[in-house]
Amino acid sequence: MTDAHSTPSTDSASAERSAFTLDGRCIPFAPGETIMDAALAAGVYIPHLCHKPGYAPHGSCRVCVVRADGRELSACTAPALAGLKVESETEDIHALRLAVLQMLFVEGNHVCPACEASGACALQAVAYHCGMLTPRFPQRFPQRALDASHPDFILDHNRCILCELCVRASRDHDRKRVFAVSGRGIASRLIVDAPSGRLGDTSFSSEDEAAQVCPVGAILLRRRAFRVPIGKRRYDLAPISRTGDVATQLQAELEAETLDT
Ligand code: SF4
Ligand code: FES
Repeated sequence: MTDAHSTPSTDSASAERSAFTLDGRCIPFAPGETIMDAALAAGVYIPHLCHKPGYAPHGSCRVCVVRADGRELSACTAPALAGLKVESETEDIHALRLAVLQMLFVEGNHVCPACEASGACALQAVAYHCGMLTPRFPQRFPQRALDASHPDFILDHNRCILCELCVRASRDHDRKRVFAVSGRGIASRLIVDAPSGRLGDTSFSSEDEAAQVCPVGAILLRRRAFRVPIGKRRYDLAPISRTGDVATQLQAELEAETLDT
């Protein structure tokens, strides 16, 4: 019996159907993958902040903007389609991405030289990767609280970029729902699952995956400050385009400690 799916001509047609081009490079993909999934699997870096492999796509930061067949969309949520012509490293897409980053920086209080996450922060590292050297929009200086109620963590809302990685980690991986985002637009804010609104009154623990995923310095483990000196942190050692996925402070520190020993 002839298996129609095994003929050479059909196989090559199927291979053609399962690839798109990214800046002219052929990127194969499996059914159900997004442009981001396929690009990362092929070793091509597309800047991203709210994306993490193994997590449900979120599409909130827009740093992964690409142009696909002439239309701008987020690579982490757009399905890979056969024959799609995707542009990521063009001058105009770069300018869009830079503007998104410049907005993220002014929406919070990101004081990199004074932040414990400096050198291990994905926002800072992506900004360096994209060549962001100066501010562009007026700084908003929002008044945001710092929650120091938890014995093991500090939750600093000043640095939160509302990527919802902690929300997804707690909900989908820890099965706890410690975090959520409340409000809309510029009034959005991270909230925790306690009537008091304090992290210390939740079940959040250092064992949680949600304790490992913050890409910036918003969820900080106590008693580890500057254990890894500036200059020896994850993105001090290699740019994010090579280091890859979302950094975590704890992972970065542990890696650096390993390198030291
Ligand atoms: S605390 Fe960190 S992981 Fe959670 S939403 Fe804010 S930036 Fe993202
Ligand atoms: S990484 Fe795609 S929108 Fe954030």
